[in-house]
Amino acid sequence: MIGIIGGTGVYQIVELGDLKEKKVLNTPFGESPPVSILTFDDQEVAFIPRHREGHDNPPHMINYRANVYALKMLGVDRIIATNAVGSLDESIKPGDFLLPDDFLDFTRKRPFTFYDDQVVHVDVTQPYCLELAETITRAAGSVDGKLVPGGVYVCTEGPRFETPAEIKMFRQMGGTVVGMTGLPEVVLARELEMCYASICMVSNYAASVSPDKITIDEVFEMLEEKKKSLTQLIYHSIVN
Ligand code: HPA
Repeated sequence: MIGIIGGTGVYQIVELGDLKEKKVLNTPFGESPPVSILTFDDQEVAFIPRHREGHDNPPHMINYRANVYALKMLGVDRIIATNAVGSLDESIKPGDFLLPDDFLDFTRKRPFTFYDDQVVHVDVTQPYCLELAETITRAAGSVDGKLVPGGVYVCTEGPRFETPAEIKMFRQMGGTVVGMTGLPEVVLARELEMCYASICMVSNYAASVSPDKITIDEVFEMLEEKKKSLTQLIYHSIVN
């Protein structure tokens, strides 16, 4: 089964499939949001709204462990996630999609592992799934918009946006885009041996990359504008 962890703006992807059921799972890490089980053609898909429906759960309060564990309980072995990001690079523009191939973790206080009582060190030399990234890249050919193949995802704790000094530091460190929801999700998926890819949707230039202040309205407006292409991209990555 394929899992989708949808950020803001992709909840209507469920309308593209045949909904079988919707259920809350009781994981050892707490309750999951309602997970929709559906089929796209004959492919079974489990969709989980990362922020819960209605977007009432900010990035630093999301129960990432319950979300990933719930998908594992359903038999998911591959996850396509979506994440809104700001761009650190003038040539990667609002409206573009990007598939990260590495990350820098600047989160601070999130439960970040399933292994608090066992010594387990997972390898993250290649944190994102190459095979899924290739499938998504192929699907991008039939969807509107540019897809940047590769880049370093910087995850901040939020909920505030970054300072210009932070953005300068992230650029010097090799960061490409910055967001608040990609970690620890990608690592938790690896801990449970699931293949994980993220489709990042660039909603804005990061602080100081453009002279304008960032507003959450511009982030939501761009997500609204691109949600059709984003859901099409996910759909064609699954049904190909
Ligand atoms: N910074 C952090 N998270 C984000 C941004 C940003 O500029 N845009 C969308 N999510």
